[in-house]
Amino acid sequence: MNTETPAERVARAHASISERAGAPCEIALVLGSGLGQLADAVSDATVIPYGDIEGFPVSTAPGHKGQLVIGTLYGRRTVIMQGRLHLYEGWHPRDIALAVYLLKALGAGTFVVTNAAGGLNADFDAGDVMLIEDHLNLTGTSPLIGHNDESIGLRFPDQSRLYDPALRVVAQEAAAATGTDIRKGIYCGLNGPELETSAERRFYRSIGCDAVGMSTVMEVIAANHAGMKVLGLSAITNAATGGEDQEPDTIEAVVAMAAVCGVKIETILRHAFPTLPKA
Ligand code: HPA
Repeated sequence: MNTETPAERVARAHASISERAGAPCEIALVLGSGLGQLADAVSDATVIPYGDIEGFPVSTAPGHKGQLVIGTLYGRRTVIMQGRLHLYEGWHPRDIALAVYLLKALGAGTFVVTNAAGGLNADFDAGDVMLIEDHLNLTGTSPLIGHNDESIGLRFPDQSRLYDPALRVVAQEAAAATGTDIRKGIYCGLNGPELETSAERRFYRSIGCDAVGMSTVMEVIAANHAGMKVLGLSAITNAATGGEDQEPDTIEAVVAMAAVCGVKIETILRHAFPTLPKA
């Protein structure tokens, strides 16, 4: 049994790549399903496959590459997770937290998370982008269960403003300045991998959620725990209202629509990055 604490594990992972990683990063960006092309805009990129990082899980999800890309993105020193870790792959919530703590160890004070999500809100269309205002963690688990390292964060971290209000304003101003439509709402985080039944979708809508997906909540809980400020954007890849007109979903259609949303997300982030706070 591995008896390492989370802090020891992240220190070992960091030590294995710190020389290659170079100068500290300011921003961490996690790319969701089908959004990997956002990493193409990085200049002076250093690519570190997850397999080269000691103790790091190697992601297997479709549309996810499994590497860190470190360099300058829209004028800011950024570390990108190109390929995220999902609970449905069998990763422990702590594996997902390790990845986030590593991004913090690389210097990032701002955590920008993107994902592909189904639109529960009937006003949303496939191809929309949603600014995440808050989330419901319906996975039934937490990345913080178990030993708490005070050197990382508090045992009982506050989550009353999990998605940073000031960063939300920055994103909305960037959307307005670039003429990009942006929705806002509550993200519902589930385990997957099966998609929701129509009854489940109607239920998640009725409890106040606007979008549903299989990622993000573990990462954001860990990022907040480690003291990073969080900005979240969902690519609404499919209508998921669970209504009479609900169409069946395919991963191919989700990934294809994520590329459409990715253009909008890229426009928003390109404009927002220069004004994101210094770490
Ligand atoms: N449900 C869950 N996850 C998703 C969906 C969905 O409808 N679309 C993209 N990711």
